[in-house]
Amino acid sequence: MTALTLSTAAATDLRADAVVVGVAKGSATKTGGLVVAPGAEAVDKAFDGKLASVLETLGASGGEGEVTKLPAPSGCKAPVVLAVGLGAEPEKTDDGGAFEVEALRRAAGVAARALAGSKKAAFALPVEDAEDAGAIAEGALLGAYSFDAYKESAQDPKKAKAPLAEVAILGGKPRDKAYKAEVERVLALTEELNRARDLVNTPPNDLNPEAFATVAQVAAKEHGIKVQVLDEKALEKGGYGGILGVGAGSASGPRLVKLSYKNSKAKKHLAFVGKGITYDSGGISLKPAGHNETMKCDMAGAAAVFAAVVTAARLGLEVNVTGWLALAENMPSGSATRPGDVLRMYSGKTVEVLNTDAEGRLVLADAIAKASEETPDAIVDVATLTGAMMLALGNRTFGIMANDDAFRTSIHEVAEEVGEPSWPMPLPADLRKGMDSSTADIANMGERMGGGLVAGLFLKEFVGEGITWAHLDIAGPAFNEAGPFGYTPKGGTGSAVRTLVRLAERTAAGDLG
Ligand code: BES
Ligand code: MN
Ligand code: ZN
Repeated sequence: MTALTLSTAAATDLRADAVVVGVAKGSATKTGGLVVAPGAEAVDKAFDGKLASVLETLGASGGEGEVTKLPAPSGCKAPVVLAVGLGAEPEKTDDGGAFEVEALRRAAGVAARALAGSKKAAFALPVEDAEDAGAIAEGALLGAYSFDAYKESAQDPKKAKAPLAEVAILGGKPRDKAYKAEVERVLALTEELNRARDLVNTPPNDLNPEAFATVAQVAAKEHGIKVQVLDEKALEKGGYGGILGVGAGSASGPRLVKLSYKNSKAKKHLAFVGKGITYDSGGISLKPAGHNETMKCDMAGAAAVFAAVVTAARLGLEVNVTGWLALAENMPSGSATRPGDVLRMYSGKTVEVLNTDAEGRLVLADAIAKASEETPDAIVDVATLTGAMMLALGNRTFGIMANDDAFRTSIHEVAEEVGEPSWPMPLPADLRKGMDSSTADIANMGERMGGGLVAGLFLKEFVGEGITWAHLDIAGPAFNEAGPFGYTPKGGTGSAVRTLVRLAERTAAGDLG
């Protein structure tokens, strides 16, 4: 885990392996060329005020994601200057015109990744307030992430490029309460978010439902969260037909984990429910080759919920948060659920399983019905639920569905605030009849068109009467198969963690509902 400090040192005075400065594309009213961002004044001075022209000579433009490394001039204690592009310079407004926090997060992430193998970097990016410092810290700590646990080279320090070990943020006020609080917040959040990434990246032969439940138990103990794990026996006793039906084909049995974080000052109660399919082969409706290689990521919803509950506890948020992890492995075998089987769900409803690859909605339905019994103020489920949502929104944006338009809008706004792209999606009532079953109350599949919304409509049937509910389909952004960008690495991304945490913070502050 990368260490984090705030420092009042000048950018040229701090002993570090590199000093990071920001550059931007000048706004049109000026020359339109590269400009050095605030925070880098001392470094620019060490370059005799020529940093911008030196960088332009090297071909830099200030564009987002751009990295230029150059040797530092004498007068600068760090041997390397790393200039990172912030994108367009903000328009000057009456109150100065600041860089967007998301631009700061992304640039810090890009810089931290480019500095893998270095020990310490000083970040001399523009800081106007505690929020800016927090954004730079968050971007750097998320961008520095790498998953090397299974690489032989990671054991050999000569071969491995270890993640950047220490981040010093300059330009802030280390003794100021708001800055201190930001550092605390970012440290807890990024540590738990990176742990969610680790869980997603861990191969499915090492992370089965039981192993995931054990990780949750250990973390819960450490952070004063009450934890309860239902194993197969308990699930059978409780009548969790959905979770059991999905787990029936696997040699590793399913689990339902309940994490309860309680705060004595809480006025509200949130329930987060995560899809935790540790591997989705499709079951008897087996996925073809080409569609199953990344299906270890099918527990990303549960990982996000887990991380969010632990973060809420570590931050001591004044809200009660219950996390439900619906864990199962979806495998074909002689004991697996068949297409045509009918499951009796926890809620009492029966479901005809027409496609065993539509398994996420089955485990979630049981967990949502169970979560409803405590009548929380809201339920939010998070799931890598449908390929259809990826077709609709691409690989970086998650879909939001809800039984309450205002709540859906709130979540969209909260996601926007933390830098997670999302989009509100409808739940058109006419798609419900496609799930009519001649044998059971409902089938687990409906029309192919609008498949993501069909899945949402299925879940809606299991939400307790009168309970506000939203569903986040993170199938696109949960796992990044392309190259890293901003503070997002390849592989598990930690999608939805920051949205859930901010939702809990806003709820604690009384800003929502
Ligand atoms: N886990 C998959 C959805 C998924 C696909 C997530 C690709 C991430 C990347 C889910 O269980 C699934 O298989 N959904 C089916 C549903 C269909 C059978 C109704 C799908 O989307 O094809
Ligand atoms: Mn599936
Ligand atoms: Zn799945």
